[in-house]
Amino acid sequence: MSYLTPVPDEIDAVALPVSGALPPELTGRYFRNGPNPLPGERSSHWFIGHGMVHGVRLRDGRAEWYRNRWVRTGKLAGRPNVRPDGRPDLAVASANTHVIEHAGRVLALVENGLPHQITPDLDTVGAVDFEGRLTTAMTAHPKQDPVTGDLHFFGYGVRPPYLTYHRLDASGALVHSREVTVPGGTMMHDFAVTEHHVVWLDLPVTFQPHLVGATMPYQWDDRYGARLGVMRHDRPDAPVHWFDIAPCYVFHVGNAHEDDSGRIVLDAVRYSRADFTAVWQMAGGAANPAGLAASAAASPDGAAQLHRWTLDPAAGTVTEQPLDDRAVEFPTLDDERVGRAARYLYTSDDSAIVKYDLVGGGVSSHRLEPGIYVGEAVFVPATTGPRREDDGWLLSITTRHDGSASQLLVLDAADLAAPPVAAVDLPRAVPAGFHGSWIADAPATP
Ligand SMILES: [Fe+2]
Repeated sequence: MSYLTPVPDEIDAVALPVSGALPPELTGRYFRNGPNPLPGERSSHWFIGHGMVHGVRLRDGRAEWYRNRWVRTGKLAGRPNVRPDGRPDLAVASANTHVIEHAGRVLALVENGLPHQITPDLDTVGAVDFEGRLTTAMTAHPKQDPVTGDLHFFGYGVRPPYLTYHRLDASGALVHSREVTVPGGTMMHDFAVTEHHVVWLDLPVTFQPHLVGATMPYQWDDRYGARLGVMRHDRPDAPVHWFDIAPCYVFHVGNAHEDDSGRIVLDAVRYSRADFTAVWQMAGGAANPAGLAASAAASPDGAAQLHRWTLDPAAGTVTEQPLDDRAVEFPTLDDERVGRAARYLYTSDDSAIVKYDLVGGGVSSHRLEPGIYVGEAVFVPATTGPRREDDGWLLSITTRHDGSASQLLVLDAADLAAPPVAAVDLPRAVPAGFHGSWIADAPATP
């Protein structure tokens, strides 16, 4: 048993034990997605397992329930991923990477397939193609503009069109799609938005046909080069301004914004060639998930750091600087600052939640007891009105390395050094996964 060991079944538990005091304002649901192969199923890569969403329902200071459900995809049903007419069936994908809410719909996401809608109780409604308008896959990292409510996203594929930009309006209708020309099929896990722009990460991890069927068919490719692309998203025919950068890989963007000089500032977690290769080999060795943890512990590579790229479209220049030397992942922020200047980013180094003050330059952390793994922390604002940017809580599921127990941890985002605000004992060990969201209850209508 380890913190990566999949769970064998779906359960429900109610009235969960809580230490500390859950703020009554935390009334809603924390959902987190991750790969979880079926019992007895062997997965050739950690990223391939079927999506399972773990949910914790909080209300008025109580932890009302925990439950976990596989997302009922075409892949879970065992359907072939190619239709009779030879086209790919985008509903046959694992839906294992993220779970978000947009326009009243909760969507489980994976980057090589369609989103799958689930209910607030984690039952699967089905694949969503936005009335037939979405004909590509959908990234697991869409970005919701905090002012317009639009959801910016993209789909990438292994054959042309390699990259397509899409936008949902605030009502959840797919209102715009456009193809973006790139040289080939890369594994584009994330992207960035600003108030007026999209930032593309065209990086040298490319599709490898000879690996299809064996494992995740992507590898580092020295021949591809590396580019960041800046494209206005409010002008349908705007060109993409490409900037060559030193080859690297980025799984996750922290944020981006436009500065007073019209430059685009991008903060993201950067992997060198050696770091990416090490991580990729670890994840590919995860047919037995315990092997992933063992190889990660043994490897000196695989560590990535927060970096900043500053892109100047007027001058055609780009600069790159490391922001810190800590190895971190899973950057998050206040959703109300997406695409705007943000002071704080929250990350994980596997045993601590780490907070960056990008204005003041400070770094603080909340380190867990030895023997406990922590992944992504989701920021929940304390109020809906004016507030300090870090006035709120960080929620994350922790798991003991020996796979014996998990908690939902609630931290004061403004003071990571303080003891946890609360911790909810979960009825089982939740395997380390990927991304999640806080879905607040809708305000009661008067
Ligand atoms: Fe991700």
